Amino acid sequence: MKVAVIGSGTMGTGIGQVFAQNGYEVYQVDFYTAQLEKSKDIMTKSLSKLHSKGLVDGSPEQILKSVTFTDNISQIHDADMVMEAVFEKLETKSDVLSRISDTVNDKAIIGSNTSSISINKLSKFVKNPERFLGVHFFNPVPIMKLVELVTSEKTDPSKLSDVKKILIGLGKDPVTSQDYPGFISNRILMPLIREAILVFEEHVSNAEDIDKTFRLGMNHPMGPLELADFIGLDVCQDIMEVLYTEYGDPRYKPPIALRNLVLSGKLGRKSGSGFYDYEVKK
Ligand code: CAA
Repeated sequence: MKVAVIGSGTMGTGIGQVFAQNGYEVYQVDFYTAQLEKSKDIMTKSLSKLHSKGLVDGSPEQILKSVTFTDNISQIHDADMVMEAVFEKLETKSDVLSRISDTVNDKAIIGSNTSSISINKLSKFVKNPERFLGVHFFNPVPIMKLVELVTSEKTDPSKLSDVKKILIGLGKDPVTSQDYPGFISNRILMPLIREAILVFEEHVSNAEDIDKTFRLGMNHPMGPLELADFIGLDVCQDIMEVLYTEYGDPRYKPPIALRNLVLSGKLGRKSGSGFYDYEVKK
């Protein structure tokens, strides 16, 4: 079975990797060649870690033989399943989904890794939308077992069960959600992160103690501010905006402190600072 992943950022790379390490042939696509280089590098490092612990069969070199890194989307024409993992912007996703639909055969399963955009809305850009659904992975994809599956009104239930079986074969443990903004995960996670930012903004406590409360008091692997930095503050803001717009409920409104960090380019780990300064901390 051939799988294509469109978009080779952190999520797309992780998704391509888990398929490759489980024996699938993978087309790893990005429209920027420099990003494809980064993607190969990230995959190689992750596979080396997993291989050294005996968690994957085959060396990174052997596994990477099954991955075709390409900036040419027409190469994916014979893919049986396509995962869209481009920027979390409706215009970008809709354009890419139309291009995928024009390229692959009518039966190929098409999944979107969106974390907040409506699957019903995205399904309008897919030919034969009964084969389309949300397949939302979690970062770091090679480590996190959860995948959130989201159906549109048009998704064929047999496609949902096909995807579930594929994911279980990858060692993932999926949950299903209706197409409500934020699905299960972000509808619950974003208000937690938002409230933590308000506690920080109101000087109730400092970032370290807010996070420590959740690490030591609730056994979360990361506190909510560390997690926001890990996800990306711009991504958190985008998701909160979607939730706030769709539900019209102030409990999802992006806090001013978050907006200011994003405006100043402090996007969390990926930019070197956010609630924490990574160049100093690590
Ligand atoms: N590939 C392979 N191995 C990896 C890896 C990767 N990409 N990332 C981490 N690891 C390994 C590390 O090598 C390490 O292995 P050892 O214990 O053998 O040394 C192990 O995982 C733990 O990593 P670290 O020691 O670096 O740090 P840690 O113990 O803090 O774990 C973490 C890192 C797994 C990310 C952990 O902190 C964690 O689970 N954090 C929460 C992550 C989370 O909530 N993710 C979901 C975000 S929400 C989302 O993605 C969706 C959305 O829509 C916003």
